[in-house]
Amino acid sequence: MTGLKLRHWRESDAECLYHFAKNPNIGPIAGWPPHESVEFSLNIIRTIFQRKECYAVTVGDVPIGCVELLIHPDGNHWWGEGSAELGYWIAEEHQGKGYATEASNMLIKRAFDDLNIERIYASYKKENEASKRVLEKLGFRYFDEINNVDYLNRPFREVAVILEK
Ligand SMILES: CC(C)(COP(=O)(O)OP(=O)(O)OC[C@H]1O[C@@H](n2cnc3c(N)ncnc32)[C@H](O)[C@@H]1OP(=O)(O)O)[C@@H](O)C(=O)NCCC(=O)NCCS
Repeated sequence: MTGLKLRHWRESDAECLYHFAKNPNIGPIAGWPPHESVEFSLNIIRTIFQRKECYAVTVGDVPIGCVELLIHPDGNHWWGEGSAELGYWIAEEHQGKGYATEASNMLIKRAFDDLNIERIYASYKKENEASKRVLEKLGFRYFDEINNVDYLNRPFREVAVILEK
């Protein structure tokens, strides 16, 4: 047991979020730009992080990452009825301790047990070996390869994987 818990984001997390999310090794590989200021992070908490199944990954009530189940129309792709998309990141100084896998497992259990979701998809940039490994550990299998464009409109290849109930 790591003491890891999921909870909704609070406005008072803005400084903490900025500290982790300004790191250029976190956002861009997951599809979003590094945070520019505490105000920028606060705005993300007030908007994007208000989505229903978006959670702070916390240890001792302090956020160290984020995990989300994106349900239509919030997802990056339309995966079909009964489907959702998993997304996550963990602050660089807290990586390699199993947190992304544990947090994702908690949300996957909720999706299948409580949210009537039958299939969960995830996608990662081809070079993102850590994310590939997390998804393997969670039991996802290969689904497809997709062309996409990032937040600066640059094309990239991503691998989509699927986990069924
Ligand atoms: C991907 C990410 C969430 C993983 O978080 P984490 O808490 O370190 O993940 P876990 O500890 O649960 O598992 C990581 C696994 O990847 C492995 N790994 C890490 N870097 C790796 C690399 N470069 N090549 C291969 N495997 C790698 C770890 O060894 C571990 O596997 P193991 O348990 O078999 O040893 C984190 O690196 C991150 O936030 N990256 C930036 C954002 C991102 O990529 N989000 C996902 C977008 S699809």
